[in-house]
Amino acid sequence: MSPSGIIIPRRLRAAAPGWTATADVIVVGSGIAGLTTALRLRRRVARVLLVTKTVLDEGSTAWAQGGIAAVMSPDDSPEEHIHDTLVAGVGLCNVEAVRTLVNEGTDAVWDLIAIGADFDRGETGKISLTREGGHHRDRILHAGGDATGREISRALIAALNRVRDDPGIEVIEHALVIDLLSNGDGGVCGVTLHVIGEGQVDGVGAAHAPAVVLATGGLGQIYASTTNPAVATGDGMAAALRAGAELADLEFVQFHPTVLYLGEGSSGQQPLISEAVRGEGAFLVDAEGVRFMQGQHPLADLAPRDIVARAIIARMRETGTDHVYLDCRHLGADFLEQRFPSIVERCRELGFDPATELLPVAPAQHYASGGVRTDLRGRTSLEGLYACGETSCTGVHGANRLASNSLLEGLVFARRIADDLTRRLAAGELPDPSPVEVQSDATEHPALIRGKRRVAVQRAMTAGAGSVRSAASLAATAARLGELAAADDGKKGGPKSWETTNLLHVGQALTLAAALREETRGGHVREDFPDRDDENFLHHTVIRRAADGQLTVATDPVPPENLIGLGLDGSHRTEEHHERLP
Ligand code: SIN
Repeated sequence: MSPSGIIIPRRLRAAAPGWTATADVIVVGSGIAGLTTALRLRRRVARVLLVTKTVLDEGSTAWAQGGIAAVMSPDDSPEEHIHDTLVAGVGLCNVEAVRTLVNEGTDAVWDLIAIGADFDRGETGKISLTREGGHHRDRILHAGGDATGREISRALIAALNRVRDDPGIEVIEHALVIDLLSNGDGGVCGVTLHVIGEGQVDGVGAAHAPAVVLATGGLGQIYASTTNPAVATGDGMAAALRAGAELADLEFVQFHPTVLYLGEGSSGQQPLISEAVRGEGAFLVDAEGVRFMQGQHPLADLAPRDIVARAIIARMRETGTDHVYLDCRHLGADFLEQRFPSIVERCRELGFDPATELLPVAPAQHYASGGVRTDLRGRTSLEGLYACGETSCTGVHGANRLASNSLLEGLVFARRIADDLTRRLAAGELPDPSPVEVQSDATEHPALIRGKRRVAVQRAMTAGAGSVRSAASLAATAARLGELAAADDGKKGGPKSWETTNLLHVGQALTLAAALREETRGGHVREDFPDRDDENFLHHTVIRRAADGQLTVATDPVPPENLIGLGLDGSHRTEEHHERLP
């Protein structure tokens, strides 16, 4: 592990806990990953505590439009879904994790249907399947046209509400997890958290448990514009980083190609135009009406996301514009309104009619392919700590997530985590919690930056560590983040400053990882190293905070065999695959 010179504190500054709670498992987050974990653990362990930062349905899951990918049709096969996932991940996927995802995905989706998720069906009652970028088969289930995440979230919350009176499961909303509690043996045994609107001045408490599952979603708010909701502030990743867990592949940030462009300076959560719209036949054009994806890739407008986003950025640079256009007009008002009701409604609210005019679009941050590193059971490098969904890095996504694989990942790995915890707790493998006081030496010194500095973090990340990076831009971002970290004025914390400091800490780790990867691969685009370099960079970048507080970096090689048969070992990424297209 090489030291980086960047110091991260062990914990955020917060008041001492004024109350305590105990559980067998604490699940943090209420998207598909958190809810599935909690529901599956219920009745298998004595007490599950589910905490969520705002209300149950406010996370990223509910915003997922396109759908959930799974092999559901006899025309499809697990091998093909595995293959498409590995190709999108550009050699950095963990092949075993991808096999697990796909092989267990179909049953997991049927279980989701059994608890009430109502996916769209055709006239014969068969589940309708569509296609998105990088997929060579129709395998995306969707609901309410373009409201898949909302339906999944509704079904899981309804299932939770049916058991809300069960003493084995407790839910606390408006609860922001601040830090992880250590057991003194390098393990995790609970969390400190702040319950907004309850308790006294600051409502800080401590919840103790032999196991904590972080399912807090992504880090989208680290950038000035993102498709992620306001709650996506990297809280779980940051807490894990401060506690010494390994984070991997952070440099691979997915920028969604088609986010409605609302003008310069438009910031925060931006409206997503699902890839499924291109799956149904919409296409990209530049300011002159030229279809620029044709000839760039065999799948043209439905190439994997990183390729489409990069092509858009290149075309914007060539034409001196800040957006391109999505042409959906030929799909017709009736079809668009029926298939994509939420997107059409939102566009019209904002003054754009997809049935009659071109939609201005530009890439914006969408998904963190990396996160807290886990094995196939969701275990992180710290005993008692698990991570799931976008917070985690299971190895499923590699350098670039395949469309609609994220809901599936949350679902499949949540089930695995619940099964692993059930077994380990029954076997007494996880010790009862006995938190130790964190020492107040120089490196443990709690830190915090003010909530009002969030825009400065977002500007620095967007300018230098965003969709296109270079050594110079990353160095400037790292320097600015360092200045912001030094601007700690010692004042007391609150939710906004805790979140902003989380963004800062994850941003520092991400920028470090991005500076070290001197190549372009998947979601990591370096203008100074525009090519993929398998000789030097076929590895994962693993970052952790060492005992002295310093971020350290290690690389974990992936075998060159990872590329064989993917069309990645030759000159063209998807040549071989394209030949199999119908
Ligand atoms: C989309 O609908 O384009 C987004 C789906 C995803 O991110 O997987």
